Amino acid sequence: MSAFDLDDIPTNPTANPHFNDVVKSAVSRRGFLKTGLGLGAVSFFTIPLAACGGGDGDDTPAVTPPTTPAPVKPLLGFKAVATNSGDGITVPEGYQSQVFCRWGDPLFSNSPAWTGRATEDAAAQALQFGDNNDGMHYFPLTGTSSTEGLLVMNHEYINPEFFFTAAIQDGTQAWSADNVRKSQAGHGISVAHVKLENGQWKVVVPSKYNRRLTAYSPFTLTGPAAGHPLLQTSADTSGTLALGTFNNCGNGFTPWGTYLTCEENFNGYFGTLSGTDTRNASQRRYGLSAGVSGNRWEEHDARFDYAKERNESYRHGYIVEIDPFDPTSVPKKRTALGRIKHENVALTFSTDKRVVAYMGDDQANDYVYKFVSEGKYDAAAPNADRNLLDNGRLYVAQFNAGAATGDAMGTGRWILLDRGTPISGGRNLGDLFATQAEILINTRLAADAVGATPMDRPEWVTVHPKTGEVYLTLTNNSSRAADKVDDANPRAANVYGQIVRWRETGNDAAAITFEWDLFVLAGNPIRTPDRGNLASGSANVTVDNTFNSPDGLAFDADGRLWIQTDGSFANTGVYQGQGNNQMLLADPVTKEIRRFLVGPSGCEVTGITWTPDQKYVFVNIQHPGEYGSHPRRPAADPAVDPLAFSKWPEASGGRPRAATVVISRIDGGVVGT
Ligand code: FEO
Ligand code: CA
Ligand code: CA
Repeated sequence: MSAFDLDDIPTNPTANPHFNDVVKSAVSRRGFLKTGLGLGAVSFFTIPLAACGGGDGDDTPAVTPPTTPAPVKPLLGFKAVATNSGDGITVPEGYQSQVFCRWGDPLFSNSPAWTGRATEDAAAQALQFGDNNDGMHYFPLTGTSSTEGLLVMNHEYINPEFFFTAAIQDGTQAWSADNVRKSQAGHGISVAHVKLENGQWKVVVPSKYNRRLTAYSPFTLTGPAAGHPLLQTSADTSGTLALGTFNNCGNGFTPWGTYLTCEENFNGYFGTLSGTDTRNASQRRYGLSAGVSGNRWEEHDARFDYAKERNESYRHGYIVEIDPFDPTSVPKKRTALGRIKHENVALTFSTDKRVVAYMGDDQANDYVYKFVSEGKYDAAAPNADRNLLDNGRLYVAQFNAGAATGDAMGTGRWILLDRGTPISGGRNLGDLFATQAEILINTRLAADAVGATPMDRPEWVTVHPKTGEVYLTLTNNSSRAADKVDDANPRAANVYGQIVRWRETGNDAAAITFEWDLFVLAGNPIRTPDRGNLASGSANVTVDNTFNSPDGLAFDADGRLWIQTDGSFANTGVYQGQGNNQMLLADPVTKEIRRFLVGPSGCEVTGITWTPDQKYVFVNIQHPGEYGSHPRRPAADPAVDPLAFSKWPEASGGRPRAATVVISRIDGGVVGT
């Protein structure tokens, strides 16, 4: 979330039945809020794990259980931490944390030291870690090493108030081409060779693996839309050679050892100096600015002026695959997975070992997607074609209330996005789009036409490692129409968010139907202690674990669900007692949620990955010090005192810095246990 959070403003003009219409009916039908666990939770987990396909790639036959089962150790084993509005990292008793990979830290032997005054030029920034760390994955350097690996991370955006000098901010120094280039270099990806030495993680410099990808690095466009005229520009008539990745939000990773980065709010980087709004319907649907953009790149880089370079924006908004082990490889933008504001991507397998990728489009009233590859993954064939993400079917989700028979679960279906799919008026998608490439480039418009369900801002999605069930954060939605509200779902503006989960029919990730329920409806029982009020949240939300705006979401290998928040840290009003943004752990069976971490002032907690032994969890602290409209916003202009709201991570630093925090148990045990 930036200070200018455009995600919450819907650009979807369609009247498809809203997700909340069906949530309220499903919730009320099974008495979700009255019973807490409800029938849904029971039926969700009564299928033996051995019967579940997908997720773990384990085809081991079911084993007869012992007649006297051993006592089951609780999934969560730490003491919850309380909320706070401090300016540090709070972790449970018995845990420790270390900060590294900060914005501006060196990545190469010729990287200049961070000045702390934002006086770095573009060339210097390109040799340092980028800003605002987000999605991230740890790849063991060899085997299952938990002491040396490649930590790959996104740098989603920059905070101009900290990223540029006071003279730029107050306008005494003109906005320059170098400022634009520096901003572009602060975005993108870092590949960092990291190593555990004497109990401390460090970045290995120099290392042949260390790499920066920025908003001007070369990329290849692959898949069905590659080469399409809409992807051709004056600099690239092939339509296959894109420049740059930016606003990289969450991530995914593949079983064949590559990193997936997700291009989210690319629209915020395109504008025009022409003075005339010449956007077409697609560019409006994706939210390009009518005039100048907030990032001001078009002022010195014509590529970002849509009146001058009509098609450049169509080359952004994709899932991008990066081979972190080959620093000379050109990353691939996989057009087969569609063009949306990609939050993250979670991969699993169908029962016949096709690759299935789940994805959310983070905007108020936008959709959830699924890609199913044509080819199958064969782990035993290391030299097999690894372009599995170039061919397959793209679906969008429709959440329905299910049969009115007392069934505990809602139902849903996956609608195929291809030219043969029926739309209104006896037509099909082929009447709107001439080719599959056009459908993929205009994914949102195709999904509008087929009746996908508008959601409360889909953020991260994750797949349970054993059951294959899929969990998705719906962070909040201030743009819900008042006529969508009733007694069962009374939040006219969804300020807290929820987590929905679904099980594919037959436990096959390639199925085209599913059942769903809500895992948690976030709320605030401190502010609203009346449990009959939906503002207090579902029964697994308590005065001790209350939170708002779930965003980052991931299962660890044991099936603990890690929930990260990106919401209000006002700690007053409807957010009373919720403190700063935080990270919580949940048990998917009991539904218990327990707070594990509280972040510093103004931050968002986002991005998560583990060493294979699960003794270390890496978490990103994004935009510390970003105060927005916070009640405690500093009186001082950040140009005068950048440290007025946050000094994290080091009080002696010149300004707050996004960074990675690695957390471990002091006794060396598995985190979360
Ligand atoms: Fe980049 Fe939707 O968070
Ligand atoms: Ca996010
Ligand atoms: Ca968010």
